[in-house]
Amino acid sequence: MRILHTVEELRAWSRGLRCNGAGQIGMVPTMGALHEGHASLIRAAARECSGRVAVSIFVNPTQFGPNEDFARYPRMFGADCEIAESAGATVIFAPGVEEMYPAGAATFVDVEGLSERLDGKSRPGHFRGVATVVAKLLIAGEPDLAYFGQKDAAQVAVLRKLAADLRLGTKLVVCPIVREADGLAMSSRNVYLSKDERRQALALSRAVRCVEELAAGGERAAATLIEAARKVMSEERAVRVDYVELVNWETLLPTNTAGPGALFAVAAYVGNTRLIDNTIIL
Ligand code: PAJ
Repeated sequence: MRILHTVEELRAWSRGLRCNGAGQIGMVPTMGALHEGHASLIRAAARECSGRVAVSIFVNPTQFGPNEDFARYPRMFGADCEIAESAGATVIFAPGVEEMYPAGAATFVDVEGLSERLDGKSRPGHFRGVATVVAKLLIAGEPDLAYFGQKDAAQVAVLRKLAADLRLGTKLVVCPIVREADGLAMSSRNVYLSKDERRQALALSRAVRCVEELAAGGERAAATLIEAARKVMSEERAVRVDYVELVNWETLLPTNTAGPGALFAVAAYVGNTRLIDNTIIL
């Protein structure tokens, strides 16, 4: 597995494969601190694009707010490389900040509307940073397929719109949420949780499961589902709800009825750690 640091190297790798007429090229954008959730995306990419999978590892400063965890975000490059390689990565793209944002960079990508909903509402500027860096990564790597997790469902909606609006040649593939044995959605931020917070964090997955069960039993009213989820989350002292919403997964606008394809999503602070979880209504 090769490690690339510049956009030029990544582009040369990708164009070299394309000249050779190889199969599809896959890309898995990440911020590192890789866990089984990331590994599942890399394995999915390796299945469809064997020998042609780039995993990017870049803690993107522009998607963090001024009071967020950019400085302390876990960085563990050596361990990340091992996980990526054993999941089937062909190259790691690990640029420095100046490589992705050259001095004086003034170009940003703003997916208007969507970027102000769900996480975008409580994290102003977050999706502008995400859209900008993902656009840069896809322009640099020119993949046929790019893999993202349903875990960040609002991010998926923003990036689908970005790919459609910019007429990118990359198809987005969305992979299911990978959970710990007890249900907690895997996240690089779970390491911030104390033992007690880790236990209380289960309120998010419990709320999601409660909604899944109610919906499976025929309950369709958004108000009822939201109230039930809020009740589950209110049972843990350290859990402070940010949002509990039922939305259309494409527009991220609230919907009154849990029709097929609706997104039920929650975000909450557990202590100082912000966690998210969701489910797609069947
Ligand atoms: P990061 O949080 O590192 O996540 C990288 C990818 O892994 C995202 O597509 C995310 O949805 C997916 N992922 C994380 N946890 C997962 C889980 N438990 N199950 C399945 N997939 C999971 O998301 C980002 O980085 C950044 O915003 C990025 C897109 C890289 C832009 O900087």
